[in-house]
Amino acid sequence: MSNGEQREQWSGRLGLILAAAGSAVGLGNIWRFSYITGEMGGAAFLLVYLIVIFVIGVSVMVAEFSIGRAAQRNAVGSFKVLKGGAWPIVGWMGVIAGFMILSFYGVIGGWTTPYIFKSFGSMMQQMSGAEIKAAGDMAGELFGGFVSNSVQVIAYQAAFMLVTILVIAKGVAGGIERCCKWLMPGLFVILIVLIIRAVTLEGSGAGLAFYLQPDFSKLNASVFFAALGQAFFTLSLGMGCMITYGSYIGKNEKLPVSAAQVAVLDTSVAFLAGLAIFPIVFAFGIPPSSGPGLTFISLPACFSHMPGGSFWSGLFFLLLFMAGLTSAISLLEVVVAYFRDELGWSRPKATWILGTVIFLIGIPSALSLGGNFPTIMGLSFLDLMDKTTANFLLPLGGLFISLFVGWVWLDGARKEVTNHGKIEFALLGAWVWVCRVIAPVAIAFIFYNKVVGF
Ligand code: TRP
Repeated sequence: MSNGEQREQWSGRLGLILAAAGSAVGLGNIWRFSYITGEMGGAAFLLVYLIVIFVIGVSVMVAEFSIGRAAQRNAVGSFKVLKGGAWPIVGWMGVIAGFMILSFYGVIGGWTTPYIFKSFGSMMQQMSGAEIKAAGDMAGELFGGFVSNSVQVIAYQAAFMLVTILVIAKGVAGGIERCCKWLMPGLFVILIVLIIRAVTLEGSGAGLAFYLQPDFSKLNASVFFAALGQAFFTLSLGMGCMITYGSYIGKNEKLPVSAAQVAVLDTSVAFLAGLAIFPIVFAFGIPPSSGPGLTFISLPACFSHMPGGSFWSGLFFLLLFMAGLTSAISLLEVVVAYFRDELGWSRPKATWILGTVIFLIGIPSALSLGGNFPTIMGLSFLDLMDKTTANFLLPLGGLFISLFVGWVWLDGARKEVTNHGKIEFALLGAWVWVCRVIAPVAIAFIFYNKVVGF
């Protein structure tokens, strides 16, 4: 984009909130949140996760918004404009993380598609006729069968990526905003319906206890590490996504307010999803540590045992697909914005080429749950991509972004968050100290403990 050209902007307040929320709320809130919470033992993890979100997460989001809006550039260009030196490397790391995350995100996004159709097929009928535990087993077998069918998994991944590419190729504001308006209300309604059914299942109490009664003896370095990674992943932080989106924010928006709203919305969706999933998991006898399949096993099982199950299930997976899509869009946008701004590629060219490359990088992830695929350090390739990006690259990016705002570009940051003194930001002092000291030290400490703890 040439410098004289007016940068695309969100159409007003709602536009930004919807777009940033659309990025944040995605598969991470339901699919990733529930399986990580299950693996990490439930309530104690949830508590750490909430603290990380509201102390570190919101602060880093404000930092990213400010950087992007001040610089009016993509993740890499923003650091070039504001400071230069080695700082653009932080943006570079982000672009690479974007490639890696979207590669496996496209696979999971793909998984949602057949579940939309399966909701109306024989899957539901068979499970609904079965005893509750048998239905849980059937749902597990069904998922296992699906992910080992490589051709299908790759075809759905391709379809998901194709839709993402088409939306991005059409441009930022228009394409994205239209998708989000009815998505969030829809998700809330359906999650509440699910929760009502879930907590009235026999045996669901154990699930509620698992999710809500913290057992502090379960706290260890891995729990903190996983909570940090999940917080960054779910809020789309640490890779310049919110820098890129920040560059489209109008100069009169209040960045801290927007960041807080996005975090509350995002956390609510994840919390409600857990409130539905864990009672179901325990009632149906599904192990909470089932891994990435947890959502895809537990929810269909429950839908099959409720009135109007096919309808609710179909609608749920459709909304999950849409939520995943708006997040995938934000991931591709980071990469595309970089190639447009810095290398001068046109939007369609950047979108098609990069989208295709990311699809190809995702193929090993698509194949990796299919049984015969080799594991690496005990992890499937998909898990490995997921965990290296979420647990290492994103918090590391967040660490540098905090340091940048807290120490290197502090005056500029102060001006940007207060709209050049035009608005009050009551927590300005606290925010600055989180960026300067609390966030970097906490992230470094959590990394240190995890690594030395080996
Ligand atoms: N936050 C999204 C989710 O929860 C995923 C996502 C979109 C993301 N953009 C990101 C994760 C940028 C990390 C960085 O599904």
